[in-house]
Amino acid sequence: MKNFVRKNILNFQPYIPGKPIDDVRREFNLKRVIKIASNENPLGPSPKAVHAIKRMINKIHIYPDGYCFELRKKIAEVYNVAENQIIFGNGTDEIIELIGKTFLNPEDEIIISEHAFIRYKMAGDLMGCKVIEVPMKNLKHDLDAMATAVTTKTKIVFICNPNNPTGTYNTKKEFENYFSKLLAARRSPLTFIDEAYSEYADEKDYPLGLDYLKKGLNVMFSRTFSKIYGLAGLRIGYGIASAEIISYLERIRPPFNVSSVAQAGAVAALDDRQHIKKSKELVSHEKKYLYEELEKIGLEYIPSVANFILINVKQNGQIIFEKLLRKGIIVRAMGEYGLKNYIRVTVGTPSENRKFIKEVTKVI
Ligand SMILES: Cc1ncc(COP(=O)(O)O)c(C=O)c1O
Repeated sequence: MKNFVRKNILNFQPYIPGKPIDDVRREFNLKRVIKIASNENPLGPSPKAVHAIKRMINKIHIYPDGYCFELRKKIAEVYNVAENQIIFGNGTDEIIELIGKTFLNPEDEIIISEHAFIRYKMAGDLMGCKVIEVPMKNLKHDLDAMATAVTTKTKIVFICNPNNPTGTYNTKKEFENYFSKLLAARRSPLTFIDEAYSEYADEKDYPLGLDYLKKGLNVMFSRTFSKIYGLAGLRIGYGIASAEIISYLERIRPPFNVSSVAQAGAVAALDDRQHIKKSKELVSHEKKYLYEELEKIGLEYIPSVANFILINVKQNGQIIFEKLLRKGIIVRAMGEYGLKNYIRVTVGTPSENRKFIKEVTKVI
């Protein structure tokens, strides 16, 4: 079949997701398994979202609204953008892929950062274009170097802010310098800013993609319902850009890519500000606990503005991952991100975090 398959796909590595709880339970014959591997909300979904989902279940014999009417209206209001500036996806994962399929030819280039969320590189590889990886500076995107790397061939610059898996962010000043540099060089690639964890980032100098879009820059940003909104299993995210960019993406979006259940859950989740507040407070409180305990056991970590922490285990992270797995704790090894000696741990519930600290202290 080798000659049958597209050349790009032959060298393609599939995405490695966090291990599912049931797999680990079966494999190691364990009763209790905790998953702190995929940056989900440990409090679960908003009860209001669950209620809306249950009501929608009775209508799943009907195709979903491909336009996502109600949700679209809400999102347009939240950001004060036109309805035709929004695209919904089966997770932001799908949006990233749609961007690749819509804009990238084999002769084009995209720019990504070292140690950035891996799906941007995958979108470039899928389309067979050149993927330029710019080294990080202190485990942060080096936006200045990324702007310098832009050439006439650059179609898209992908920036993950805050970045998964480092938990670091780029400041308003860094973004302003980045855009000034592009302007001076008369380059305007599409700058895609992935804001999957932005709800957790409260820092004063944390910038919003929306502000740059409103300034008329060639910017698209994405948000997801998989993280703080606790709806990862429903698969729903969205992107916002100029109406023109969105109109091209819409040409290839599968017509019913977001389920009716996901739309109902998302509308209700957006309204439950109390649940968001509670989720944020939990992460901020528990992050402090984890930092203190990691310091006590002498493990170096990268301060994070998101709901996960990158930890330097000073040995092969895959080994620590496997040892923790046997104890019923699923974390993520970071080899695929070029961070061999690190693990990434999602901030869990107080009891999950205490179990993690107890076991990591033993296995380290
Ligand atoms: C930075 C970042 N972007 C996008 C995604 C994908 O999110 P979704 O569940 O919306 O596809 C993730 C998931 O881990 C992520 O970390």
